[in-house]
Amino acid sequence: LLQPAQTQILKGRRVLITAGPTHEPIDPVRYIANRSSGKQGYAIAVAAAAAGADVVLISGPVNLPDPKGVKTIRVESAQEMLAAVEAALPTEVAIFAAAVADWRVAQAGAQKIKKGKDGAPALELVENPDILATIAKRATGRPPLVIGFAAETEHVAENARAKLARKGCDWIVANDVSPATGIMGGDSNAVQIFIKDQEAPEAWPAMSKTDVAARLVARIADTFSSSTE
Ligand code: CTP
Ligand code: CA
Repeated sequence: LLQPAQTQILKGRRVLITAGPTHEPIDPVRYIANRSSGKQGYAIAVAAAAAGADVVLISGPVNLPDPKGVKTIRVESAQEMLAAVEAALPTEVAIFAAAVADWRVAQAGAQKIKKGKDGAPALELVENPDILATIAKRATGRPPLVIGFAAETEHVAENARAKLARKGCDWIVANDVSPATGIMGGDSNAVQIFIKDQEAPEAWPAMSKTDVAARLVARIADTFSSSTE
């Protein structure tokens, strides 16, 4: 899929990728999390490394080994993920494939919360930082190409367009994860790429997550080659 010229273009360029879920502690033994296997983000890291890029993968807790040739940094929470992303800058490309927990518990217990006669505890939640938006809206040191993901269960195009605008990123890779598609946690994916200032999305047919990754990396290489011509 990747032409030799595209490999040359990405050689040595720094690419940052977030992947997997985040875990937000309730107490030392419990957490809040999103469903995410990390497969798509890891596949992008592998594809970018294969294209010669200098890849930093910032990963939440997943059952996947560190990919060869990729600098992998493991984190647990959204706040840790943001700190690791900021520490990895500057990069030329930043791809936010992580399923970040939108909320964390305001005051995580230092000790295990015990069941008691008072019934279930009321958890006060606070919103986590939006890592993608924070990086996309940086005044200085913004990566030239910032790519977000949008996993939607309905109104895919409408939600993806709104996210592209709201988060200030350049592309949104949108996919339909409604249970009927069977995509969640599986090995294949059908995505549409929404590009800033481009009316129609690029709709890709269903393919393996590995192929989505290779095609995305090839698409990124194309962008660099057309902007340096
Ligand atoms: N994202 C992020 N930090 C967050 C939440 C989301 O970096 N705290 C990134 C994801 O990695 C993804 C994009 O933002 O690239 C969209 O995530 P999504 O959960 O679809 O968007 P939200 O803005 O959180 O909207 P909602 O969950 O309400 O659909
Ligand atoms: Ca979210």
